[in-house]
Amino acid sequence: IARQPSISPLNTDTPLDYASQVARLEAVKSGSPRRLTLTEKLLYSHLIISPEHRWTLDSIHRGKTSLRLRPDRVACHDATATMALLQFISAGLPKVAIPTTVHSDHLIVARNGAEDDLKRAELEYREVYEFLSSAAKKYGIGFWRPGSGIIHTTIFENYTFPGGLIIGTDSHTPNAGGMGMLGIGVGGSDAVDAMAGMPWELQCPKVVGIRLTGRLSGWASSKDIICKLAGILTVSGGKGKVIEFFGPGTQTLGATAMATVCNMSAEIGSTSCIFPYSEFMSRYLSATKRADIASLADIYKDILLTADEGSEQHYDEIIDLDLDTLEPHINGPFTPDLSHPLSQLKVAVSRSDWPVKVSHAMVGSCTNSSYEDLEKTKQLVNQAKSAGLHRVTTPFMVTPGSETIRATAEADGILQVLRDAGAVVLSNSCGPCVGQWDRTDVNVKERERNTVVSSFNRNFVGRHDSNPETCSFVTSPEMVTAFAYAGRIDFNPMTDSIPVGGSTQQLRFAPPTSVELPTNFSIGKDTYQAPQNDTAGLFVEIDPKSNRLQLLRPFDAWKQGSAKSMHILVKVRGKCTTDHISPAGPWYKYRGHLENISNNMLLAASNAFLPSDYSNMLGHAVHPLKQAPTILPIPEVARDIRDSGARWCIIGDWNYGEGSSREHAALEPRFLGGVAVIARSFARIHETNLKKQGMLPLTFDDAADYDRITKGDRITLVGVE
Ligand code: F3S
Repeated sequence: IARQPSISPLNTDTPLDYASQVARLEAVKSGSPRRLTLTEKLLYSHLIISPEHRWTLDSIHRGKTSLRLRPDRVACHDATATMALLQFISAGLPKVAIPTTVHSDHLIVARNGAEDDLKRAELEYREVYEFLSSAAKKYGIGFWRPGSGIIHTTIFENYTFPGGLIIGTDSHTPNAGGMGMLGIGVGGSDAVDAMAGMPWELQCPKVVGIRLTGRLSGWASSKDIICKLAGILTVSGGKGKVIEFFGPGTQTLGATAMATVCNMSAEIGSTSCIFPYSEFMSRYLSATKRADIASLADIYKDILLTADEGSEQHYDEIIDLDLDTLEPHINGPFTPDLSHPLSQLKVAVSRSDWPVKVSHAMVGSCTNSSYEDLEKTKQLVNQAKSAGLHRVTTPFMVTPGSETIRATAEADGILQVLRDAGAVVLSNSCGPCVGQWDRTDVNVKERERNTVVSSFNRNFVGRHDSNPETCSFVTSPEMVTAFAYAGRIDFNPMTDSIPVGGSTQQLRFAPPTSVELPTNFSIGKDTYQAPQNDTAGLFVEIDPKSNRLQLLRPFDAWKQGSAKSMHILVKVRGKCTTDHISPAGPWYKYRGHLENISNNMLLAASNAFLPSDYSNMLGHAVHPLKQAPTILPIPEVARDIRDSGARWCIIGDWNYGEGSSREHAALEPRFLGGVAVIARSFARIHETNLKKQGMLPLTFDDAADYDRITKGDRITLVGVE
């Protein structure tokens, strides 16, 4: 090998060290002939080996052993980075110990289109961006300014490499699996452990093998792989598991198409999702100026970057998926695992009360905003144009995933075609995917019922526009585009046509063809602030009067008796995601200010203990310290109990805390005097976040005990002192 490449062209001082990874792997195997899955290879080759921790295959038990790992890098976005950096500042260290980046993608509100929206965000969030930029400079972190792109897309283009391990403070970090890199979503304090050079701990996951055969054709896309799997495995079916793809079908998908699958694996609650190294990955690396990584990966392909032949027997479960027969899927509303094969959608719509008319169609998000996605969208727009339909019939928004994709799609004429057809091109950011949408086409305040369809990954209640009556469906970008012309959610482009104006002519779409990569990626605007070497004279300023940023103070230490006779603040009924526990949208501005953001705690949750007249009211609780039944917002009740010196707990339902990695959902209850969340079950990242912030996440031994807890009960935890 002539030259050892670095892990990224933007981290030239960190070599890509496959040889050391293989050495660690061999040490763990210690001569065992056992075949390894790809997940095992990637996890074990990142173990921290020390005299106290000599790992062997026999000493590691899936679902039990806590692995101590050293990731190759850490990434945070602007909505989680403020809190992560505030925690890092508390650690008192001069610099991060491993390559770290911060990405400004979550705070830009979609309203008029890219330029205007970006300018507004820069004004509105100036204080937060300045804090992130100065903290990044001070602590040796790479900073991607607003407009750079969505965190996972930027990572994919610049930092992913086969065989790597990345942790990120965002649940869609598994996106990196499209490049054969294990990506795992974590809370900010986990990220800070790794940034501080401490071992990052992960309970050794189980491994689900997905045997892919066949090849995609027609309207089927990689999005349908994961939409179908979501229907099979449900939102909690992947908990504690890595979804590992194998079989000949894995060698037929483009890198960004595989990233789509891995990205949305977060919707089944999986720890991560991974594809084996392939020629498509190699081509993508070369197209993004990393041919040297591809050359080295070619050498380590068998030993490190693919599963051993014959390792199938070591999957905990195998699911077969034939791409030849895969149908397009549309998932929703309100949960990503409500999966409808296209051929059954019409019937499902006719049996439902979902509005048939589509009020908005959206292509974008970290799941589906690649060059290939935008190119397919353009093909359908051109088909419509040729048939005489010059504009979409439904409001249509399109988001390029990154500045590189935007610049390339602009140079290749894609964005102009979309704009000419009436699409609004948004800034390279999350926007409506994360509730950053200043929506005016429906009456959000009055909760106007409506249907939206997007290429996003997540469709929980109120996710995009805070309107609990928005029925949101997720599907592939090509299906979204077809819906944008048909204007109906019961449209099937494989069988239905669209009338063209007053004429007798009909538009029948042909499925678009995949263009894996552009001829050339354009560079676009320079939006990157590189980490600095000499940071000694730099300071991070926080205005003590700021209502957006607040230095962290240690929580009160545990007091004897805190878990005795606790009030039940709320008994959560049904789905309670991190969007319910710490809603996003207008609350983003307080993500760096624990006191202020705590005013949103559980505001979207449904409380089973409200009197029947109030049972549909969200985010409220009966105040236990007031005489007459007084119903108040949950954060207010929590604060009053805390200030009275008493303590409280939450009763949770199934999969409590599913969804994102936001640790505010764990910090807020601790800050407001909570002791425990007792649930039927937890989502992985939230359970870890609660532990890290000193909240007890407890699971009922018997899930039916949830029903035995009634109004007015007090809870005492025995044996926790
Ligand atoms: Fe952003 Fe939505 Fe992805 S919030 S990181 S685009 S899931």
